[in-house]
Amino acid sequence: MNTSVVTDPKNNPFPSSFLQANSLQELEWIHRKGINLIYWSRARHPQIKNYLAHSPSLKGFQVTISEGNTNHLENELACLPGKSITPGRHELIFDILFLVRLFLSIQPKQSLRVNFERVQTDACRLFHSDFVDLRLLCTYDGPATQWIENTCVDRSGLGSGCNDRIVTDFSRIHELPLQSVAILKGDRYPGEEGNGVIHRSPPLDGSGMHRYLLRIDTQESST
Ligand SMILES: [Fe+2]
Repeated sequence: MNTSVVTDPKNNPFPSSFLQANSLQELEWIHRKGINLIYWSRARHPQIKNYLAHSPSLKGFQVTISEGNTNHLENELACLPGKSITPGRHELIFDILFLVRLFLSIQPKQSLRVNFERVQTDACRLFHSDFVDLRLLCTYDGPATQWIENTCVDRSGLGSGCNDRIVTDFSRIHELPLQSVAILKGDRYPGEEGNGVIHRSPPLDGSGMHRYLLRIDTQESST
């Protein structure tokens, strides 16, 4: 377990820390006071990356899960391009269902929004925190989400429209490992309001690149 716990003087209401989990089970440590990001850098699925690279018609979907029932999600996943024997397709379906069940087990809310999308812009290029309690992110292909430690953030600059007023040390911007499982704390996490992890979409505009991103939120979250 790598950990960094620091006291932050720059408009951050809580001591902040991030954790790199060594196992799936350790992702539950996102609930620890002061932790606002934990990620598990697991082995990649090369078949999924290959499947996505050869599925140009795959645009993504958004599904609501009520009371922990994944039937709608399973129906949506069954419509993914390709056949059951297409390499990587089954692995992607299995993994999305696996991560939804994981998120259901980590937080108590049984109604979720699952969003899987092909992202070609960097609409969220400004560093920000999310107005959620918890969020799961997994980038399956392409550049992954960037984040920054609280110690390198001035929260008074949030909403200014200028990263220069938010980031105090650009050399400390990190990018989540591809296909890692990240749990982010947002600004609505009970008892730690305002301590959401500061992050952004990686710059893509004009690069011709895209990425495939899975995002899972509690249903009442909004950003
Ligand atoms: Fe965000």
